[in-house]
Amino acid sequence: MSWALIPAAGRGLRFGGARPKQYLEVAGKPLLAHAMDALLAHPQVEGAVIALAADDPYWPGWTTRQGKPVITCTGGGERADSVLAALEALPASVADDALLLVHDAARPNLHADDIGRLIAAAEACAEGAILAAPVRDTLKRADGDGRIAATEPRERLWRALTPQAFRRDLLRRALLAARADGVVATDEAMAVERLGLRPRLVEGREDNLKVTTPADLALAAFLLENRE
Ligand code: C5P
Repeated sequence: MSWALIPAAGRGLRFGGARPKQYLEVAGKPLLAHAMDALLAHPQVEGAVIALAADDPYWPGWTTRQGKPVITCTGGGERADSVLAALEALPASVADDALLLVHDAARPNLHADDIGRLIAAAEACAEGAILAAPVRDTLKRADGDGRIAATEPRERLWRALTPQAFRRDLLRRALLAARADGVVATDEAMAVERLGLRPRLVEGREDNLKVTTPADLALAAFLLENRE
């Protein structure tokens, strides 16, 4: 069985607006609730730990959802600190080799088939697995002056999505090592890669978008309101 860890302690500064983006409502509930429900409705997910900002006034106080336990903890200064805090807040009964699915609070459009394929891949690969999507656009490297310095070959380039799935002991070791080295890992795989390991890429749905701008929110609303 697996547990979900959801870092939701960000202030959403890039989005702007009064409330953090994870609490913006689309299709009848906050983005965070969409993310939680997608994971907790999955039969292989046992519960969730949500990392919240200190004194978060928006958290509705859920202790269960989809009939499964919801635990909260206080997040940290960086996303990786929030993930580590969530990991440490897991119940003692969660085994060292339990699979943890780390998922952004701001990704509301997660489908069960992606979760299932990710779990299957992570169970088969000791080094973990992440959802990802191949890069479709031509990539330009800028020269610092707003001009093109180079065109990067896009073959074999992927965009990292979430959830990202790792065994509890491996994820803990990777996040602690990155922190000790002063490296800010922007996703869990980056911390694991630093140990010399190679997590598996699992091609996920392109519409598992992260809400970062108002345009993303409009797209998320469209996708969620039109799901079968
Ligand atoms: O800012 P960004 O969209 O990359 O954040 C990804 C996720 O990490 C969001 O769900 C955000 O709430 C969370 N986060 C966090 N703690 C931080 C920074 C971000 O839990 N210090």
